[in-house]
Order: sequence, then C-alpha cells, then structure tokens
Amino acid sequence: MHDMNDAAVLADVFPLGSRRDARGTLALGGVPVDELAETYGTPLYVYDEATIRAQCRAFVQPLARAYPNSLALYAAKAHVDPTVAAVVTSEGLGIDAVSSGEIRTALAGGAAAERIVLHGNNKLPREIEYALDAGVGRIIVDSLDELALVEDLAAARARPAPVMLRITPGVEAHTHDYIRTGAVDSKFGLPLASGAAEAAVERAQRSPALDLTGLHAHVGSQVFELAPYADALGIVLDFADDMRQRHGLRLRDVSPGGGFGVRYDPGDDPPAAAAFVAVIAETLLARGLDPAPRLLIEPGRSIIARAGTALYRVGVIKEIPGVRTYVSVDGGMADNIRPALYGARYRALLANRAPQGPQRAVTVAGRYCESGDVLLRDAELPELRRGDLLAVPAAGAYHMAMASTYNLVGRPATVMVRGGAARLTRRRETDEDLLAAFCVG
Ligand code: LLP
Repeated sequence: MHDMNDAAVLADVFPLGSRRDARGTLALGGVPVDELAETYGTPLYVYDEATIRAQCRAFVQPLARAYPNSLALYAAKAHVDPTVAAVVTSEGLGIDAVSSGEIRTALAGGAAAERIVLHGNNKLPREIEYALDAGVGRIIVDSLDELALVEDLAAARARPAPVMLRITPGVEAHTHDYIRTGAVDSKFGLPLASGAAEAAVERAQRSPALDLTGLHAHVGSQVFELAPYADALGIVLDFADDMRQRHGLRLRDVSPGGGFGVRYDPGDDPPAAAAFVAVIAETLLARGLDPAPRLLIEPGRSIIARAGTALYRVGVIKEIPGVRTYVSVDGGMADNIRPALYGARYRALLANRAPQGPQRAVTVAGRYCESGDVLLRDAELPELRRGDLLAVPAAGAYHMAMASTYNLVGRPATVMVRGGAARLTRRRETDEDLLAAFCVG
C-alpha cells in the first residue's frame, strides 16, 4: 500500500525524473536529498531546472502552433530569482511583473525589457516611472485613477506609455475566494458594468501620452476549468468590438491572464497546458479578427509549482495517546503560508531512506509559535525519527515568494538542480542578516 502511494506521488507530483536511489534516498535532478541537506542545510527549496523547462515548453509549443502571434509571460509573483528568470527567458517567455523588484530581478536574469509587463492594483508612482524608464513592453492599467497617474508620468517623457487595460469580466472561476479575481466584487480591474472600462478606453484613446494597445482579463488562480477562459475572453472581445465602433479602439494585444491549475496530489486532474492554450486560441481564432491581435498568456504556478520541492528536517515528535501525533519540522508557515491561508493540502514523503513498515496518520507541524502552523494534517507516513528528511512536492509556487521572517527566523536557501549537480540560487538568511536591518540607538 505505502509503496504505491510513494510511487504515485513520486511519478505525478514530484519534479520530472525524481526517483529513489539504491539506498532508497530520494534524488532530485539526480542529486540525493541527504547531500543537498548536508551541503545547504534545511529547510531547503530545491528547484529542478528540467521541470521548469518542460513546463515552459508545454505552453510555448502549442501556443506557437495554434496562434503564432503570441507571447507567454511567466508570472514572476509565483517565484522568481535571476536564475529562474534566465531559465524561462531562454525558453522564450517574457515576464509578468508586479513590482519594480520583480522587474529588476527579471532584467538581472537577462529578460528583455520589451518582453516584460507590469501589473498591479496600486502600482507606486516611482514603480511606474521606473517601468517607463526601463522600457517595459506594457503597463497593464488597473483603474481610472491609475490611468490618470500613468498619463501624467508619461506626459513628462519622450514616448507615449504602452498600456493595456485590465477589465473585470464578471466571470467566476471555482477557486478559493482569496485567489479569485475575475468577479465583479474584486479590488482588481476596471468593471464593465459600471462604465469604468469604457471611460478608460475613451480617455486613453484621446491621450497623446498613452498608447492603448489592448485589453486584459484574469479569472483567478489554480483554475481547473476551461470554460472561464472562453467566457472571459469572449466578454473582452465583445467589449473590444464595441470600443472599436464607439472609440476607434484598435485591438493589438489581448490577454486572458494566467491561473492554470496544477496537481498537488496524485488525485488532482487539472487540464493539460495544451488544453488551456487550445481553448484560448480557438476562442480568439473563432472571431476571425483582421488584423488579428497578439495573444499574451501569463502562467505562473503552472510553470514553477512542480519544479520546486521543500526539504525539511524532522525534530520533535509528540505523541498524544488516543488523540494525534505531531511531527514538527524546521520550517512551516513562514516558508509555506498556503495551508494556513487557503487550507491548501499537500503530500509529503520520507526522503532520506526507503519507507519501511506500516504507515500511520500524523500531523506535520511547523516550528513557528502559532497553533495554526500546520503543514500537513493527517498525512500517511511511515515511522519517523528525529533527523529524518521530509520532502514536500509541488512547493515551487507561492511558497518562497510569500515567505516571511516570522519569529525572526531567516528565510530558507534555494538551490537549482540539473543533471546531478546543484547550485545555490539564494543563500539562507541568517540571524545577522535580520539583525542588520534594525536601527539601534
Ligand atoms: N496574471 C495575473 C493578472 C495574476 O493576477 C496572476 C496571479 C497570474 C497571472 C498568475 O497566476 P498563476 O498562473 O500563478 O495561477 N498566492 C496564491 C495565488 C495568487 C495568484 C495571484 N495572481 C496561491 O498561493 O494560491
């Protein structure tokens, strides 16, 4: 029983090519996890380069075939550093950034400025100025207020700001409330119904400081359905047609955003990348637009989630007879807030040795001072002892990206593995690093 469990999680949720070596030790990208833990310490986030590349290709190849005038943008908010930016850039993706920090990191990884877009519901004036001066490809304007701000900042510069407008299509995707963004009651985007979206088109069309290139919509994140993409894009295209007639809009770019769902458990069954691409391309092609706009998509989680594995070291094991056994590890909610914030469920495998004997349900808790700091509830695991390594797969997206220094614990290191070798991509934050930020006296 436990072997099948182990095998399914290894084959379907861990990075491509993950396997147990002759000792029974998990190897990621050909590197045994005990070596990784020894060299870099734990908790450790291990990224497998081949899996990132495979996921990039899973989107780029069908997109290039179905709709050549297109660009896939990696949503850097899911997880980015210069190494990841360089890998996705070399696979032909651009970058969807939401801050000057993400733009700088993308540039540091070699991304071309014109293949970067800037999103956000409250971009700071200095971030907009930075983006304009860096020459990013598009600023995705989120509100009327922001349109006026971008217009002002662009008016003081030589060239008009290339902008797209983010429309709230009123399409609900079935995902967690906190990560659903396409509905009318959302802090994101220009609602169609209130007339805000049309007012923005009208203003942008009239402004010499703005070059309105197109429209954007995003339905949510960790979406397992195809229909919301067709629906949202259909609404955007109807609106674009209306705006062409009323305000002379030339639709040169269009985007249905990102949000493509991924597997956290062998039982999850999200559509393939190619299926998301197909429904989007078909919806657009069915309109027979002439000239046809460029299509932009923004996958984040679906590029990076599977590539990342969290490695934790087991510490205290507390058995409460007849109640529950808590297995505490050296990380927790500060490096993975998703269970506490969204009720997200994960799998874990004993990673430093072959699982033996019967499994039983234990609760894997973090090290932070909060009862809600639980990573896995009722996880079926073999007998564990202090010093064992636990590996949590599908940890690549929105873990390190959302990490905090709660309890003044430094954030984990990250490494990238490829072909049996590992390299450090972010060093572990130390107590000294944290202390250095304080001003004393
Ligand atoms: N484009 C836009 C405009 C977005 O707002 C997002 C995500 C994406 C693309 C990328 O979505 P993805 O392909 O990664 O699902 N922290 C949450 C997810 C927040 C998503 C925010 N926006 C989580 O851990 O589930």
